[in-house]
Amino acid sequence: MAHSLPIQYDFSLRDHNTFGVEASAHAYLPIASSVMLAEVKSDATLAAMPRLVLGGGSNILLTKDFPGLVLHMEIKGIEIVGEDEDATYVRAAAGENWHQFVQWTLQHNLGGLENLSLIPGSVGAAPIQNIGAYGIEIKDRFHSLTLFDFETGEQTTLDKAACMFGYRDSVFKHRLRDRAVVIDVTFALPKKWQAVIRYADVTQELAARKITQPTAQDISAAVIAIRTRKLPDPAVIGNAGSFFKNPVVTPSQRDTLLATYPQLVNYAQPDGSVKLAAGWLIDQCGWKGKTAGAAGVYENQALVLVNRGGASGAEIAQLAASIQVDVAQRFGVQLEPEPIFL
Ligand code: EPU
Repeated sequence: MAHSLPIQYDFSLRDHNTFGVEASAHAYLPIASSVMLAEVKSDATLAAMPRLVLGGGSNILLTKDFPGLVLHMEIKGIEIVGEDEDATYVRAAAGENWHQFVQWTLQHNLGGLENLSLIPGSVGAAPIQNIGAYGIEIKDRFHSLTLFDFETGEQTTLDKAACMFGYRDSVFKHRLRDRAVVIDVTFALPKKWQAVIRYADVTQELAARKITQPTAQDISAAVIAIRTRKLPDPAVIGNAGSFFKNPVVTPSQRDTLLATYPQLVNYAQPDGSVKLAAGWLIDQCGWKGKTAGAAGVYENQALVLVNRGGASGAEIAQLAASIQVDVAQRFGVQLEPEPIFL
């Protein structure tokens, strides 16, 4: 079927992934409205291609050229869609930049997302891995989302339970992978706002600023300062934030490790499991600041892999594999990557 979609072929994705690695897409289509998704679905040739949905490209490692169709989500728009006594409901389109959206909510005096300031990426990508930082995850502020289902060709609304959020995890990494495209997300921002400042980094930063009763804006400013210090700016040095998830172990595994490594950084979870700081494990293995080819481990945070200039995705994947082997040998813990590999 003839179509008028503005597809580009053999398109470089270098500027569309925050690692800044070179890889090309067989076909590339910026999506400016949800109608375009239905048009892709109704075109037999396009619908048959492997698909990759791209937001800000901040959670992906491109290890080779992509032989299919990249859908780059560029749908824009933010609006307050309702309120009740508990919350104000704000809907943002998938193509909005996450940090700019958080700032929009704060400018409208809507607190709740401030701990998630400066996380790279787009609104549409945020639920996929249930982004989180400093004691808040997107699931804590999530109301619902609209998606386009490539299997049925329909738009559907999913509530929080249907998204099956977990630590850096959701239904979109499992049953709905390769099928659902997030169109917009609605957040419930609490009317009775309370500061979430139990993370030591945040408490210390606020204390340094002599702030005792922080507003949402104060917390946002503190988080921006912390992240700027600890994490590399992808516009300057290619990276995808934390490269590995913090591994979850049993209390008895923790106790065994503590016997040998009394400094082990660990956090008891509400469900009885224990999270270990992957950055600490990697640091202990001596990887912090190391370089392998053009890939490296960031100097200020061992959990972040960086492109020191001209690294290929395969090179970064190779470095990640070496780190996994070392951490497994030393601590008996398997690190799981956070970004999706392609
Ligand atoms: N640590 C080291 N050496 C390092 C890095 C960390 O010893 O090189 C230690 C730190 O001293 C600290 C502990 O490890 O005791 C944890 O480090 P940090 O507080 O920096 O947080 P994280 O566990 O490394 C997680 C998230 C971040 C999020 C922060 C704050 C994951 C995989 N990462 O990092 O999320 O911003 O907590 O909540 O859960 C991301 O997902 O991309 C991301 C940046």
